[in-house]
Amino acid sequence: MKTSHDESRVVALVPAAGQGVRLGESMPKAFVPVGGSPMLTVAVDGLIASGVVDRIVIMVPAEWRAQAEALVHVNSRVPISVVTGGSERTDSVRAGLAAAPEATHVLVHDAARALTPPSLIARVVAELRAGSRAVVPGVPVADTIKSVDSDGEVTGTPDRSVLRAVQTPQGFRAQLLREAYAHDVPATDDAGLVERLGVRVRVIPGDPLAFKITTPLDLRLANALLAERELSELSQAVRP
Ligand code: CTP
Ligand code: MG
Repeated sequence: MKTSHDESRVVALVPAAGQGVRLGESMPKAFVPVGGSPMLTVAVDGLIASGVVDRIVIMVPAEWRAQAEALVHVNSRVPISVVTGGSERTDSVRAGLAAAPEATHVLVHDAARALTPPSLIARVVAELRAGSRAVVPGVPVADTIKSVDSDGEVTGTPDRSVLRAVQTPQGFRAQLLREAYAHDVPATDDAGLVERLGVRVRVIPGDPLAFKITTPLDLRLANALLAERELSELSQAVRP
């Protein structure tokens, strides 16, 4: 819980500007419905429900800004800004960072991880408050992973027990993430840029529900999980 002396400001940046090529729907992925609401709305609701976020900045394709504003401004308890993202995910995060000058701590949380439990979001912020400068949720990998060369020949089999599949939200001291983003290098996650500065990144246990909706199969799974959740909420509501 915050005190009146707490000067910290946690801003969540939500990359939602991707096209969703692998999902193959007719609109950008963040606007595709899951459980009846756009993925972006579900992800933002999770951030608000965590109770640990002071402001939210959403990055969307330029031509979807008006739709995004209409979706997320309805009765939000947390101030929300919508900005234009960029062509790569790193460009979108950089745009979000520029729109969050007051942040002392930043969460970067993919709209595509719409089912992320609020409790995971709270655990990432708790770890930042406990002093970590960079925190990522991670889960053990189920498959054996191989590295391959351009001919498809195996070049190695890393020990699976030391591997983690990382999720979002990834949490950072704001100043650290700004430094990491001062360099224009490609990266598939934000922690990767921080690692290049030689800073330690802490992995905390992730949650299977924080999976990224990437393919049509993922979308079916997300819809099935939300339908189940709705059914169980309904049955609780009618119980005497
Ligand atoms: N993202 C973004 N800006 C980009 C690319 C991606 O804000 N230029 C966001 C996506 O909207 C998504 C998150 O980053 O919420 C994770 O990216 P990914 O799952 O790869 O989404 P897409 O890039 O939309 O999907 P694809 O790679 O299949 O096109
Ligand atoms: Mg992508």
